[in-house]
Amino acid sequence: MRTKANPAPEYVLVVDDEPSLRTLLGFIVQRVGAEPLLAHDAASARKLAEKHSFACALLDKNMPGESGLEFLKWLRKAQPDCNALMVTAYGNVDSVVEALRLGAFDYVLKPFEVDALEHRIKLALEQWRMRQEHERMQAMLVQADRLASLGLLAAGVVHEVNTPLAYILSNLDWLDEELPALSEALKRREPANPEVEKLAARMQGVQSTLRDIRQGAERVRHIARDVKAFARDSQDESILVDLREVLDAALKMALVHIRYRARVVRDYQDVPMVMANEARLAQVFLNLVVNAAQSLPEDGAEHAIRVRLWTGPNGEACAEVSDTGTGIAPEHMPHLFEPFFTTKRSGEGTGLGLFICKSIIDGMEGTITVESQPGAGTTFRLSLPPHGRDAHGARPLEQASAAAS
Ligand SMILES: Nc1ncnc2c1ncn2[C@@H]1O[C@H](COP(=O)(O)OP(=O)(O)O)[C@@H](O)[C@H]1O
Ligand SMILES: [Mg+2]
Repeated sequence: MRTKANPAPEYVLVVDDEPSLRTLLGFIVQRVGAEPLLAHDAASARKLAEKHSFACALLDKNMPGESGLEFLKWLRKAQPDCNALMVTAYGNVDSVVEALRLGAFDYVLKPFEVDALEHRIKLALEQWRMRQEHERMQAMLVQADRLASLGLLAAGVVHEVNTPLAYILSNLDWLDEELPALSEALKRREPANPEVEKLAARMQGVQSTLRDIRQGAERVRHIARDVKAFARDSQDESILVDLREVLDAALKMALVHIRYRARVVRDYQDVPMVMANEARLAQVFLNLVVNAAQSLPEDGAEHAIRVRLWTGPNGEACAEVSDTGTGIAPEHMPHLFEPFFTTKRSGEGTGLGLFICKSIIDGMEGTITVESQPGAGTTFRLSLPPHGRDAHGARPLEQASAAAS
């Protein structure tokens, strides 16, 4: 189920030419937690339909002007997701059949029992919600699938690029050595020849161009390395990972989100290496950093995203991403790691980021915690088991706890 903070209201259209009945129907709609939109005839109902999407509609069959059935026909085309309930008088079986044939969700016979009508509206709303949820899940699956394919594609492209890049760089190495040697050899042969001097000068121009080429090639190498950290490896294997490199790669990837909102403050202390799938870990940091950036208003104020790495008291690898953004409302805190919990507009957030982060960190037997102060900022903290003695001097878990006991 989608857990959505401040969910959008569910509108129920009520079309009835009789004012007292209209008011009563509106009141019943409110009782089931939906928002009634009242219209006295089909024409004004159409106007409402231009502005709102209805989850459900209660349509009086007999109205002056365009009949309820005519309007139903139009509504089915204009808003096919809306579940329409036809309100019709006793003894009017033909019109009931006709309404169902036209795609009405259900019908209600007048005079109706309030409880029975309430029950039917609830059913109509429930079915509408399930359909919405189903459509959203399907869209999300398509998106997830697309991302997974993109990851595989990127991994393939990086692999393909790395091979030619390797020989470009090694040939550049060779030219770097060969060209100055060639210049020197020329000069030695004919030291006073002005033609040779000219050739040597041209050779220097060539060398400088080669330096530019090398810079470009090095840049491609860096980009390929960063993309590789995110691209899904078909083997999905765990390797020894340096958190600094992964965090730096995530920050680079998130640069477009961060650039105009905050400056990045790095505080990297000694931190043990961890055994992890680099791409997944990079995804965790990317999610945290993008969330931090999204929490910052573009108000021109001085904001910062702080990233910290250090060794915990038991030798564990600790990481922190904190921001000076909006903070999180206390009532949202228990839901943060639930799938589909989001306070963002659709298109901006899926509510899957933190859920995925937690699954990945749980899989590594680590922990993820959060502290937040509304209006002041948020800090996400990770703790990961270290792996062996690391290159940066931190002690592994076993040794640290043995020393402590
Ligand atoms: N750094 C943060 N500052 C404020 N709110 C945050 C932060 N990180 C997460 N949140 C809240 O947690 C919700 C869930 O985050 P997430 O799972 O990444 O989904 P999404 O970013 O797609 O909404 C966000 O919608 C937001 O309300
Ligand atoms: Mg997110």
